[in-house]
Formats: sequence, structure tokens, C-alpha cells
Amino acid sequence: EICNDTATALLGWYDAHARKLPWRAPPGAPPTEPYRVWLSEVMLQQTTVAAVKSYFEKFTSAWPTVMDLAAADEAEVMAAWAGLGYYARARNLIACAREVAGRGGVFPDSEEGLRALPGLGAYTAAAVAAIAFGRRAVVVDANVERVVARLFAVEAALPAARGEIRALADRITPDERAGDFAQGMMDLGATVCTARAPKCLICPLAGSCAGRASGAPERFPVKAAK
Ligand code: ADE
Repeated sequence: EICNDTATALLGWYDAHARKLPWRAPPGAPPTEPYRVWLSEVMLQQTTVAAVKSYFEKFTSAWPTVMDLAAADEAEVMAAWAGLGYYARARNLIACAREVAGRGGVFPDSEEGLRALPGLGAYTAAAVAAIAFGRRAVVVDANVERVVARLFAVEAALPAARGEIRALADRITPDERAGDFAQGMMDLGATVCTARAPKCLICPLAGSCAGRASGAPERFPVKAAK
């Protein structure tokens, strides 16, 4: 049972409108393997969904499992990464694959265990825990931040408002399907609750959105004056 109306509405929308992305399992299928979830989330850390797609395909074709990536030639991995930028991510990627290989190719299945791996910050650990392992975790990226700031008309300005936004995201995160919930919030932010000109008329959360009720949802999240 989903424990709140916001999560119920969001998950219903996700079931009907989820973007079809190469690292997502189709509805009803078993969850995506942790390796693929981890790889996609590391690639998505500072790169857009559109740009990541072809790199994800290239990596998973060349190295179908974390054991393959761990055994890969480092220069080859770096060359395959070229164009994605932030090369520290690629070095961490190799270090992480080798650490997981040392555990028999098995990723830790908790947020805390994942957080201890090279290159996994709070966001990535939460995302992998929720999406790959079905753990209840609060997953907040820039898209989710915008959706939550609008839903609750958070008046405090970023970056100071991060704690408040996170607490609000925690309140609406369901115990079940936390991974779908997280990805639904990301998709909503990317396609409906966009930074400029949000499409409130087609939003599944419009009925309970304080930002929309205020008449100026695009005002949120408030940013500190420069
Ligand atoms: N951005 C980061 N992770 C994502 C995901 N799993 N789906 C869509 N956008 C994302």
C-alpha cells in the first residue's frame, strides 16, 4: 500500500508516462541489474539523459557485467568515456568496478554500503538503493528539487533551502516502489514541471500543488540573490 496521495498520483502517472530509457526495465519486468543502474546513475551525475543514452549502450555492449568492466584496460575505458567529461568520474568508475569485483561482483544493497564505494555520493547511493534494490531512499536531484519546491511553495531560497526540500521529499516518499517514485519525480521535472513554463494542466500533482495555487509556480525554487 502506498502511504500518501501524492505518491499514489505520481506512481499512476509514471506507470502511464515513464520515459523509455535503456537503463530502465519495462513495466512489470524484474528491476534493472544493479550494475546497469549504477553505471547509468554515474553517467547521469553531470550529463543529460539525451547525451548519456549512447554512452550507456556503448559501455554495456563492451562490458556487459561489472566483472568485465573491472577487468577492462583502463585506457580503453577512459577512451570510451571521452566526451562525457569530468574524467574523475571515469577513474572512480573503474575503481568502483574493481572493488565490487573483489566482492564477487555483488553490489552492496543498502544506501550506507553503496555510499562507501568510490564515486558514490549521497545522491547516487540513494538512487541505486531505491532503483536497483527497492530500498526506501530519498532521491533528490535538481529536477526533484524543483518539483518539491513547487509542490510545497518553499519560500526559503536555494541553496539554504536544501534541507527543508529534502525533508519534504522524505515526507512524500512511499515505502514501496521508492525507485519508481524517484524516477517518476525525475521524469515529471524533466517533462512537465519544467524550469520555465511548467505544464500544470497535464500535471498529476496539480490538485495539491501549492506553487500552482500561488499562481506563479515558476517562481520556485527561489534562488538566493546573486
Ligand atoms: N537522472 C538521473 N537519474 C535518472 C534516471 N534514473 N532517470 C531519468 N533521469 C535521471
